[in-house]
Amino acid sequence: MTATVTTRVAIIGAGPAGLLLSHLLADAGIESVVIDQRTREEIENTIRAGILEEGTVGVLSSSGASDRVVTAASRHEGIELRFAGEGYRIDFAALVGRAVYLYPQHEVLKDLIRARLAGGQDLRFGVTAQRVEGAGTDRPAVIATDAEGRTLTIEAEFVVGADGSRSVARAAVSGSSTGGYFREYPFAWFGILCEAPPSSEELIYSNSPDGFALISQRSATVQRMYFQCDPDTDPAAYSEEQLWDELQKRVPGTTLAQGPIFQRDVLRFRSFVAHELLKGRVALIGDAAHTVPPTGAKGMNLAVADVVVLEKALRALLLEDDSRPLEAFPEKALHRIWKAQHFSWWMTSMLHVAPDASDFDRRRQLGELRSVVESEHGRAYLAEAYTGWPLEGLT
Ligand code: PHB
Repeated sequence: MTATVTTRVAIIGAGPAGLLLSHLLADAGIESVVIDQRTREEIENTIRAGILEEGTVGVLSSSGASDRVVTAASRHEGIELRFAGEGYRIDFAALVGRAVYLYPQHEVLKDLIRARLAGGQDLRFGVTAQRVEGAGTDRPAVIATDAEGRTLTIEAEFVVGADGSRSVARAAVSGSSTGGYFREYPFAWFGILCEAPPSSEELIYSNSPDGFALISQRSATVQRMYFQCDPDTDPAAYSEEQLWDELQKRVPGTTLAQGPIFQRDVLRFRSFVAHELLKGRVALIGDAAHTVPPTGAKGMNLAVADVVVLEKALRALLLEDDSRPLEAFPEKALHRIWKAQHFSWWMTSMLHVAPDASDFDRRRQLGELRSVVESEHGRAYLAEAYTGWPLEGLT
């Protein structure tokens, strides 16, 4: 059994990038079909990071994609860097006049899915893209399989791969599903969610001789914390008591408020940028185009920045038959992507302890941290990058 649907833009992936793109396109009167291999429940319940740049919040709220991002997010005007037993506040508001917002990604996804369904979006869960065909033609197509194993062909004027780090669309764009600039890290994060009050008003990024820890939050009663671990760590290998010991010894100076741990996961780190972001009428955005380690909190923000650039290009192409903004899309998107890649790599390497770090490396790292916190320019660079560079065409 095969079925064919025709639309203007076929979007693979109902993550933040794909859903926001469909939302902005609909606003411009451009119809799309969005597919995702996961169920709605899986998408809405997968725990991801939680920091939104001001620009991201602006796009989500002004487009009507999410009101809760304004009413339910908590505004953070700084973070703390902690090392060598001392804490140093990076005051975003004073340094760059901006802030970030703590609002978990799966809440953004709930808002986006609700908004898209209310807007009549053709949004299909449980549909797995197999490949993209005809990238070099005016009628590219997505060949997919639905939950019952039937083939679905989506014919479109443009195809967008917003299908995450294991992108199927990537092969049609860069000639290989894995082709890209790539870096791995010799450590990962052990993440927990626990029922406890916050241990600190702001996020703490802590470098300690035992490794890195991040004390983050979710609400007044639920907290998110991470500590550096070996990438092969089995999440079940630690008792709750051991987890609290590991976390606590990495944040000397703060007594962590403990409570039942109800979720644990190990997050592997990668830095990746696909060799190509555009081929003919197929483009890659979000994690399909790039992956960053989570230390800089850039993943979802970068996806939103891609969407802002691509949406304008698609409007020009499909409403005015002007392909120039599309031709400029890769360079424009990559400009920000590589800045974010650098920032994410820098925060990661500055704060983690590499397993093979020598005494020289360790002392140099403390010198680097001191160079940042003791200089207004150093703090301002961190604040500028963390809160996010202005979005293309938006302020
Ligand atoms: C989180 O709250 O999950 C979080 C916050 C900041 C990061 C990464 C993750 O850099």
